Amino acid sequence: MEFFSERNGELYVEGISCVDLVEQFGSPLYVTSKGALEKNAEAYINAFSKASFEVRFLYAVKANNNLTLMKILNRKGYGADVFSDGELYLALLAGFNRKYVLFNGNSKSEEEIRMGIEAGVPFSIDSLDELETVSKIAEELCKEVRIAFRINPDISPNTHPKIATGLKTSKFGIPWESVIDAYKKAVESPGIVVSGIHCHIGSQIKDVSPFVEALNRVFDVAEKVEKLGVELEFLDIGGGLGIDYEGIGAPTPKDFAEEIIPVFERRVKDLNSKPELWIEPGRSIVGNTTILLTRVNAVKKAYKNFVAVDAGFNLLLRPAMYGAYHRVVVANRMSEEKRDVYTIVGPICESGDILAEDRELPEVKKGDVIAVFDAGAYGFSMSSQYNGRRRCAEVLVDRDRVYLIRERESYPEIVGRQIVPPEFA
Ligand code: LLP
Repeated sequence: MEFFSERNGELYVEGISCVDLVEQFGSPLYVTSKGALEKNAEAYINAFSKASFEVRFLYAVKANNNLTLMKILNRKGYGADVFSDGELYLALLAGFNRKYVLFNGNSKSEEEIRMGIEAGVPFSIDSLDELETVSKIAEELCKEVRIAFRINPDISPNTHPKIATGLKTSKFGIPWESVIDAYKKAVESPGIVVSGIHCHIGSQIKDVSPFVEALNRVFDVAEKVEKLGVELEFLDIGGGLGIDYEGIGAPTPKDFAEEIIPVFERRVKDLNSKPELWIEPGRSIVGNTTILLTRVNAVKKAYKNFVAVDAGFNLLLRPAMYGAYHRVVVANRMSEEKRDVYTIVGPICESGDILAEDRELPEVKKGDVIAVFDAGAYGFSMSSQYNGRRRCAEVLVDRDRVYLIRERESYPEIVGRQIVPPEFA
């Protein structure tokens, strides 16, 4: 917890007290440590620095699409993995090099495809229908599109079933055994430049071996694709490296690189082309950089000791959706003894609105500030306005400086783009 520490009984993010942050910016509040973000970004770069092949890191925008964070990653040389027109829009605003902005997705509309082709980004194509649409629109626009097929490698990572994506039963990709037929078609399709092979096996994977398996599958496909006379520019093994939510350890980018590099180096020798390795990390870049601060509105002894805070699954869906574990502390009672077992619940009108269950904490009182750790990935980006709740602000801390990087939403933003026809006014 180098960037998150205890000082004078309070939780600090770099040089700033969380209690002060909530005083200044209100609660709830997402707080990101710039130092932690840069450290994670560099960890991947350093881990692969000794590889004898080129490696590109495409940050998975879905994990956290805050522009300031993306600009920091862009400055580190990252590209981006985008999964929708909106994410593409954001990635372009953040200034990522379009050559390394991969347009992913299993169900892209014609409108999205047109936008991607006009932007000149490469595509990961998920079906023959999509290939046909991309080719048609590319021809119309007199453009060439670099493409990869997303293969389904039929690999079972040990993770939550909702986020395992490389199983043969999953909706993603084309079965790896038959994808060569799709490549044959692509080679003959106007406007299409076959450039790569893509796969992504899932998320929060805490074992490196499924990635190695996936890489081997990608190479098996690459050998066949090359026989079509194709020069491969990239082999993309997706994202998915897990992080240490529970405090029990997790593989690092270094552990990941140590397994991946030798396999890549050995197998690339059998290819004629010299493809780059592309990786799409999301969670392992932003997850542990950010905490969610949330004020205690009430403490109640009922069936359990309930601590009712002002952030719920509207702002952090992971516990409700996946039963995910996030560490919590009382940010203003860091040096106090643990006194009791508490369940932290949000303000949403559903019993499933639980952020943390049965946690030993110091005596919690109304007005205290709870910090939920590791909330940087799939936190704000999965937030909603459910129950008419405005989304909260985000700040970035860089040593002793604080930057407001997203304002709290206003009430008119709850109204949004609704139109009341005059008949009902
Ligand atoms: N590439 C593709 C094609 C993806 O679909 C994903 C994540 C990533 C890269 C980044 O994976 P990461 O490195 O972040 O694991 N909402 C869930 C996670 C969903 C992941 C979806 N795809 C959660 O909160 O656990």
